Amino acid sequence: MAKIRKAVFPVAGLGTRFLPATKASPKEMMSIVDKPLIQYAAEEAKSGGVDQLIFITGRNKRSIEDHFDTAYELEAELEGSGKHDLLAMVRNVLPSSASCIYVRQAVALGLGHAVLCAKPVVGNEAFAVILADDLIRTEGKGVVEQMADVHERFGCSVLSVQEVAREETNKYGIVEVEEGPDGELRVVSIVEKPDPKDAPSNLAVVGRYLLTPKIFEKLEATSAGAGGEIQLTDGISALLEDEPVIAYPFEGKRYDCGSKLGFLEANVEYGLAHPELGERFAAYLRKFSAEHF
Ligand code: UTP
Repeated sequence: MAKIRKAVFPVAGLGTRFLPATKASPKEMMSIVDKPLIQYAAEEAKSGGVDQLIFITGRNKRSIEDHFDTAYELEAELEGSGKHDLLAMVRNVLPSSASCIYVRQAVALGLGHAVLCAKPVVGNEAFAVILADDLIRTEGKGVVEQMADVHERFGCSVLSVQEVAREETNKYGIVEVEEGPDGELRVVSIVEKPDPKDAPSNLAVVGRYLLTPKIFEKLEATSAGAGGEIQLTDGISALLEDEPVIAYPFEGKRYDCGSKLGFLEANVEYGLAHPELGERFAAYLRKFSAEHF
């Protein structure tokens, strides 16, 4: 089975849950401690073997392009003042040997539509889709790499899934699964944001997908669903008629950084794990909680 070489980053959403921060700048550029969400996502893709990063962008997303571009003035300034550590950090924002392609989604017609915009660049090979606002911290392999291993073994599309509280099924795509002959979870059906009482399970799809190119054909035939958007979930549901799809409960901890609370939690935990700041931040938190809780 061929390796996954291409990753699609849909970053054209409006980010309404994080207004006003997202009024003029993309939520994917919000930082967890000192690195924007989109950079964590790019690094995860690269460590999973991806060398082509395809960004589906919209209005107000210029800063993402600038972030991965060469910053001549800044680099000259840092070089001139002998700040070699910072210079290396700025130069290494884009993992070496990776290339970036930007495709514009003129109108935010939904995640399925955003993925479809990548069709001319992806062509006829399996690819990853990464939603940068789902930040996933792992001890070993990143989630894209874990999923690429599953794809290599079974040769079909793979969805990352996680159990969620029953009352939260209406925030996610929810899958119904059955166990396959090798212990893998085969998706039987998928439904977007079901009411808790109608949800077929509490297994939610989170922001990592490995998809076969057949998804494009299915998305082209998908009309607008819930919320007037072309839903990726509907495309995957149609894909199930032709191909197996595997649900993969990934190893790692996920932070929903598209929500304000998830973003704060990620900052606390990444702050505590930060090599330079961790100890001092822990001391501050201990003092603060002793005084306030
Ligand atoms: P979300 O459902 O999180 O929507 O999109 P959103 O607009 O980003 O945020 P909220 O819910 O309004 O706060 C899931 C992913 O799909 C992308 C988003 O950028 C996000 O990564 N997306 C969504 C697009 O690229 N285009 C779209 O038309 C819709």
